[in-house]
Order: sequence, then structure tokens, then C-alpha cells
Amino acid sequence: MRPFGGPGDIISVEREMLTTAADVVVIGAGAAGLFCAAEAGKRGRRVVVLERNTRAGKKIRISGGGRCNFTNLYSSSASFISANPHFCKSALARYTPADFIRLVEKYRIRFHEKKLGQLFCDGSAQQITNMLLEECRRARVTVIYDCAVGGVERDDSFFVRTNRGDFSAASLVIATGGLSIAPLGATDFGYRIARQFGLRVRATRPGLVPLTLGAERSADFKALSGVSVDAVASCHGAEFRENVLVTHRGLSGPAILQVSSYWSPGDEIVLNLVPDEDACEWLASQRGREVTLANLLAQRLPRRFAHAWCELHALPPRPLRQYTDEELSRAARLLREWRLVPSGTEGYAKAEVTLGGVDTDELSSQTMEAKRAPGLYFIGEVVDVTGHLGGHNFQWAWASGFAAGQSA
Ligand code: FDA
Repeated sequence: MRPFGGPGDIISVEREMLTTAADVVVIGAGAAGLFCAAEAGKRGRRVVVLERNTRAGKKIRISGGGRCNFTNLYSSSASFISANPHFCKSALARYTPADFIRLVEKYRIRFHEKKLGQLFCDGSAQQITNMLLEECRRARVTVIYDCAVGGVERDDSFFVRTNRGDFSAASLVIATGGLSIAPLGATDFGYRIARQFGLRVRATRPGLVPLTLGAERSADFKALSGVSVDAVASCHGAEFRENVLVTHRGLSGPAILQVSSYWSPGDEIVLNLVPDEDACEWLASQRGREVTLANLLAQRLPRRFAHAWCELHALPPRPLRQYTDEELSRAARLLREWRLVPSGTEGYAKAEVTLGGVDTDELSSQTMEAKRAPGLYFIGEVVDVTGHLGGHNFQWAWASGFAAGQSA
């Protein structure tokens, strides 16, 4: 076996077949993989990262609308969905948003808080990938691109067979992400490796994804399409106040993306369109007025939405003064609890994340190492830990990558 050659090199188009011995092989040069590789490299470990794409961090590049919402000031275990809500606590406590902010500041990357603790680059998301690659370079990590992994075997070490030669290492870190957006490199590789080594994988489904309403319902909603309203969306006890956008296929916008992670087929989504008011009291207080309900709502909601919404629900176009008690309370109920049963989601093609994944019961919460397969680690989105919208998923990538990077 050839010894590890040229640590720190980034080999992108080398065709020579190699057999390389390393201490740590990381599969996936995304957020979690690059971060973990740099951390392990800083400890003097000889690290190789294998990436199937021709470049690193494709998802980082398009994240946050091209500005990468790289962390959230308020990230805590409450910002994550997992079968075991406690699992992420240890890693999140050991590598915090403040730690990542310090790194970003060290690289003089300018950033701002957009809202709700969400930190974005002022410039381009590529700055974050460049920073991670520079951290890898300084830690003498080798990144190999265009690398298709054929299989993994285990003897005393792990053997990774690829089109770029074979790699062996005592530690193997799986950082291949989830299933969302296949053109960016998403594969089910991580789940297959977990199963190969006898680890349970929790059922996966798209998260942070627009919801569809079905052809018939969407036609009813045509007049509302393209309008965004400030609302509280709730599903299964989880509620989020942000914008809701009606699309030609259904519902989107941050509040919908958030509740989509709690939604299962058949569930209803409840929207409160007047979150600052008690709808009943508000309408009662306006009852003496000559104004129509649509015009009254247009004081709180976009005009087009207010009118189309009243028409959709066949709310009488008479002045409120002429509303019966029953009509008024129906209008109030609809405003407070507009119940919709989505027909589905827009799927992995439009999902920001994948819910489910490698069962956290199989992993050490301190190190991300598989309890039943020593030396095998899973980090980032491939694990059954999924963040809310707003920078939490990257914070999990950094925190889980850090935990594994201290141990692998
Ligand atoms: P990630 O997907 O980043 O990396 C996995 C890597 O493994 C990829 O490079 C892939 O090519 C590689 N790979 C897969 N299979 C392989 C194989 N068999 N062999 C070799 N390599 C393989 N989050 C957030 O916190 N803030 C944000 O602003 C956004 N914005 C956002 C926008 C969009 C459009 C999407 C789709 C997602 C986001 N996210 C986000 C989510 C965030 O991008 C995501 O959670 C992290 O990138 C996950 O990091 P990982 O390293 O786990 O996977």
C-alpha cells in the first residue's frame, strides 16, 4: 500500500489509481465533512476527504439565497427535530454559534443578522466554503474530487473502494448529507452504509418543503397566488409566525416550510391570519361600521388577498353592520383557524432538508461514533437530527463535525 502522499494537496483531476493509507477518511465534502476533516487534521490526523462532485460545498453555495445562513444566535436543542430530542444537546453545547462566529470573524467574512438570530454573509456563501477549504489546507487535509465510492469493507481498518483508488483508515466518517436536491450530489449512500454495518435508519421524508394543495384546491386558490401574508402556521402543536406564501401549487414561505417538517400525509395545517388580535373581539369591535369584511381585512392583509380570501369562503360582501352573529363568528373562526389539508409536499426536489436518517440511539452523542461499529462516524444531515429553518442545520453540521473531529 502506498503511503499517504502529499497531505494538504487538493487533488482534483488526477487519474492515477492510488491506494492511500490515512488515519481518517471522510466521505462528503459538504458542510459537516469539511469541518470535521479540518478539526481532525488539526489534531495531527492524516485526513482524506472523498467527494463525488467536482467541487466542495455545492449546497453551501446556494444556501440562504446565495448568502448562506451559516448559524443562528438562538440555536438550541429546541430548534431540532429528532426521535431523541436530547441527543443533539452535548454536541451543540461543545461547539456553539459563538464558536463558529469567531471562526467567520477570523477570516474577516462580513455578516449580518437578518431576523430571528439568523446570520447571513454580507457577500457570497462561497466565502464559507472557501474558509472551510482553507481550514482543511492549513490542517493538511487532502480533498479528492470526482470520486465515486464503490463500497466500504472492514478488516482491522476500513477500506473504501473508489474510482480514484482504494483508501484505508482506522476511522471512517460518513458526511454524505440527506436526499434533498439530487443534482447537488445528494445520495442515499450514508443510509446504505449505516445498514451495511447493522445500524438502524429512521424513515426519511422531505422537510422544510413547500406543501401542495392538489389541482382542484389550487384552482380555487388561483386568485390568492403570489401573495404573502404574516401569519401563524401550526401543525401537531408546533407553531411558527412568519410569512405564508400562496403559490400556484399550494403553500410556501418560511412559516409553511417550518410546519412542513411536522406534517405527515392527512394532517391539517392551521393558519391564523390575524395573529395580533383576538379575531372574535376584533370583528365585534368593528361591527358598527359600514365597511365590508374584505375592506376591513385589507387594513391588515394585502388587499388582493383580503378580497380573494373572502370570496373563497363565500363571506357576504355586505357591510359588517349587516352581518348576523353567526356570519360574524364564522368569519372570526376562519380568520383564526383557517384549516387546510395539503395533498402532499413538493418532495426532495424542493426540500431544504431530509428528516429522519441514522438513528441517534446507534451513535454516541459525545463523538457521533457508531456504538456497534467502532471507528465509524456519522455527522450532519445523514443523522436523524433536523433543524428548523434559520441556520440551525448548518450549526448542526458544525457541531456534529466538531464532535467527530475531536475523536476520529
Ligand atoms: P451536504 O449535503 O452539505 O454535503 C454532503 C456531501 O456529500 C455533498 O458534497 C455530496 O456531493 C457528497 N456525497 C453524497 N454522497 C456521496 C458519495 N456516495 N460519495 C462521495 N460524496 C458524496 N441550512 C442552513 O442552516 N442555512 C441555510 O441557509 C440553508 N439553506 C439551504 C438552501 C437549500 C436550497 C438547501 C437544499 C439546503 C439549505 N440548508 C440550509 C440545509 C443545509 O444545506 C444542509 O443541512 C447542510 O448542507 C448539511 O450538511 P452536510 O455536510 O450534512 O451535507
